[in-house]
Amino acid sequence: MIREFNEINLAFRNSFHVKQHARRLVEFESEEEVMTIFRNEKPEKWMVLSGGNNILFTCDYDGLLLTPVSQTIEVIETQGDVVRLRVGAGVEWDDLVAWAVEQGLWGLENLSLIPGKAGAAPVQNIGAYGAEAKDVIRRVRFYDVEQGCMRSLDRAECTFGYRESIFKQSLKGRVVITEIEVELSRVANPRLGYGDVEREVARLGGATLKNIREAICSIRRSKLPDTAVLGNAGSFFKNPVVPREVAERLLAEYPDMPHYPAADPQQVKLAAGWLIDRAGLKGYRDGCVGVHEKQALVLVNHGGATGSEVIALARKVQVEVKQKFGVEIDTEVNIL
Ligand code: EPU
Repeated sequence: MIREFNEINLAFRNSFHVKQHARRLVEFESEEEVMTIFRNEKPEKWMVLSGGNNILFTCDYDGLLLTPVSQTIEVIETQGDVVRLRVGAGVEWDDLVAWAVEQGLWGLENLSLIPGKAGAAPVQNIGAYGAEAKDVIRRVRFYDVEQGCMRSLDRAECTFGYRESIFKQSLKGRVVITEIEVELSRVANPRLGYGDVEREVARLGGATLKNIREAICSIRRSKLPDTAVLGNAGSFFKNPVVPREVAERLLAEYPDMPHYPAADPQQVKLAAGWLIDRAGLKGYRDGCVGVHEKQALVLVNHGGATGSEVIALARKVQVEVKQKFGVEIDTEVNIL
């Protein structure tokens, strides 16, 4: 069922809680509703606003925002131990994870408590604790605004990478995702290799599906601020991927610097949080905005900040990291 809002305050629809307005916002449930909107209204300026967890508004939006609200989680196929689900774009990602864990289905548990909706997960290929959305997403269905029809892409066609997909590249601004297809398994496959996960799972009594979910939730709660309390958008920056020589030069000077293999063996992924921390900016505050005191990758709104104030802080962080380490860090958050 469609709900429509005009001149809407977006403060409660973006996790940074910045107060900007949009000319119009429409919540949609079905793909028919999306098609009807584009056929009838032919909006010139439009954008999908999903959970608002990865966006920073720096000005009012003079166009149409489309928000998915469909709550469908449906088993569409079971083949041996493999279970395939159809998930509406409006389902809260963590509700999906909780549902899967409850059903004894493996694959999503390491992605517990990531804020946002299912339809946004493929866009930046959300990831945490050694897992990525691309590991489970089989297909993405969407309305293609340029072609004026529904289409779908399988996993390979989505060209997923680290916080990347075709939806941030050639299909950017062209599609409205309506559902994703996810493939899970009844066979246990604990992934405990990242950070403190193994220790936390052992403390809870072993590698069951429920314990892994609980461990990830507790690690995240201990490091990442709750958006209901402190406005933020999770990692504000992406971890930089640098040429191997750059990483070696830095490691000679900072032997304790965290570094990880990148998709290209000639490159190395560094931890932006560590670089910002070591640049002395963890916990830094300037008026209403700041760098989170427990995780330097997260910029926070202490209350009443504007998007421009957050941007000014982000620029300062980028400049100081570049000055100290010679490394550029890019934003993960979409800036509008
Ligand atoms: N570190 C510091 N100081 C900090 C933050 C991190 O020294 O303030 C160090 C940590 O000790 C660790 C390394 O940097 O050695 C990496 O930190 P962490 O394991 O916390 O992960 P991350 O690289 O900072 C990424 C994702 C997170 C995800 C975690 C866990 C990105 C941009 N971020 O953070 O994703 O939860 O790994 O898998 O890839 C998000 O995208 O919004 C997000 C929170």
